[in-house]
Amino acid sequence: MSATTVYLETFGCQMNELDSELVRGQLSTLGYTFSDNPDDAQVVLFNTCSVREHAESKVYSRLGIVGKRKLAGENILLGVLGCMAERDGLSLLQRYPQVDIMCGPGELDKLPSLIDAARRSEAATAAERTALAGNRTRRSAALSAVQDDLENLDLSRAFDPVVAGRSAFAAQVRITRGCNKFCTYCVVPNTRGAEVHRPPDHIIDECRKLADAGAIEITLLGQTVNHYRYEHGAAVTIDGREAAQIGPGLAAFRAAIPAGKRVTTFAQLLRRIHDEVPHIARLRFVTSYPRDFGRDILETMRDCPRICRYLHAPAQSGSDRILKLMNRGYTRGEYETFAAEALEILPDATIAGDFIVGFPTETDEDFEASCDMVRKLPFKNNFIFKYSPRPGTVAIDRFPDDISNELKKLRNNVLLNLQSETSARVHAAWVGRTVDVLIEEVCTQRDAQPIRGGVELRWERNANNSTDTSRATLRGRTAGDLIVSMDTPHGANANEFVGRIVPVLLQNSSALLMHGALIAHPATGHKSNVGTTSANTLVP
Ligand code: 5AD
Ligand code: SF4
Repeated sequence: MSATTVYLETFGCQMNELDSELVRGQLSTLGYTFSDNPDDAQVVLFNTCSVREHAESKVYSRLGIVGKRKLAGENILLGVLGCMAERDGLSLLQRYPQVDIMCGPGELDKLPSLIDAARRSEAATAAERTALAGNRTRRSAALSAVQDDLENLDLSRAFDPVVAGRSAFAAQVRITRGCNKFCTYCVVPNTRGAEVHRPPDHIIDECRKLADAGAIEITLLGQTVNHYRYEHGAAVTIDGREAAQIGPGLAAFRAAIPAGKRVTTFAQLLRRIHDEVPHIARLRFVTSYPRDFGRDILETMRDCPRICRYLHAPAQSGSDRILKLMNRGYTRGEYETFAAEALEILPDATIAGDFIVGFPTETDEDFEASCDMVRKLPFKNNFIFKYSPRPGTVAIDRFPDDISNELKKLRNNVLLNLQSETSARVHAAWVGRTVDVLIEEVCTQRDAQPIRGGVELRWERNANNSTDTSRATLRGRTAGDLIVSMDTPHGANANEFVGRIVPVLLQNSSALLMHGALIAHPATGHKSNVGTTSANTLVP
């Protein structure tokens, strides 16, 4: 029998991308093959996101397309994975009969058996085709068994870059799952469950294996990474190993660690990874929660040169009144204190984040406070979102969505324009400096389009890996996440730069990106481009 081909499409955040990578590794080990074309696949999987309505609408339209193919007689197994499955529950199966299996983000270890059950028997019951946590992950008694299985999925990830389907040089490692914050607009605490921290040894082991397999950049993932805290001896598996454990209450960040308890904090975790896995050239982390971001973390970043000085710490709003309605737990002043302290300890740090416009009851004055914040703080970029009421959140029940879509759009554009001005200023301050850039891709055409926060760029990639790359542009990122483009050195093959860290003189900037020139690069023996790049070749 020929292998079953799977098409897996991912929506939403980096956490979902990692989940998809794990699913891909898990199914590959079981003999499934993957295709980039849904038409070639017998199993179509959508790993979905519920954070905003827009992300869900895209999935519904994909479900419609596959539904038509099934009606036309094609034998396809359709699975919805991730947050939409968890949020919609069984009602999604009822409303979309073309959906065969559903698997929440906390149950992905069960996916192979769901696929198996559905393929073996068309008559498989809904229960056999569905794995959802419900609110189980918030009941601590059931936690360890659930998390243990999930922990095994992370632990058993494929380290072969081809099997895992990831770029070999940049990898992601989860440190916490779920979230305990309950911001009133956010579905994540419902779909991904309670905050659970992985044992530090598991994380370090995973980082080491990824580095051994060729990763030079590792990004640690969590909804609120700086809340990472592992109390040793508090949770063990039946065979005595350390197990994933539920996070402490937020009060834990205000108090000293009790005597006699051995705890690994986020700062200590960072330092251990930095010191124990020296072949990681860049260690990043997202997303930080602006409160409880201790000085110890900033000082560890300062002392460990391979930890990237990049803080993605969403402010969400500049208005104290709105921050309170959002249940963010800090004021604008406290955010500003955090940013000032970060820049004092790490003067080269870049700060980025997210803002929501049009939160219920947001007045012109509230919105102006967000604008003022974007004008005054040196945000490298911000993703800006229009508020969308999400079923299951506190906000949808408590606050009518009273800001019209027109006004949300207007505020979104105003804030985007202000952010562009701030980004341009932040970028301009880097011109003239030499920085290390990790080259991520080769672009055969310069085509930069601002989307949302001005950081997502659309490029025409050198998809066929053509060897004629003499006119190609290299694109990469600095440790502070500045996007840098540069010409390929004369006579060089651009593809051989991908996945390498090279020194670049930053020569020019815009709101979106920096343009620079490669300086002498011993690894490839290429001569410097500095002085040969004319100003008018720079990206607008
Ligand atoms: N509406 C709009 N934006 C949202 N986000 C989360 N929930 C919502 C919502 N209901 C944004 C926040 C968060 C980012 C991942 O998505 O800014 O930081
Ligand atoms: Fe959602 Fe707030 Fe948790 Fe972020 S911190 S995932 S916005 S609830």
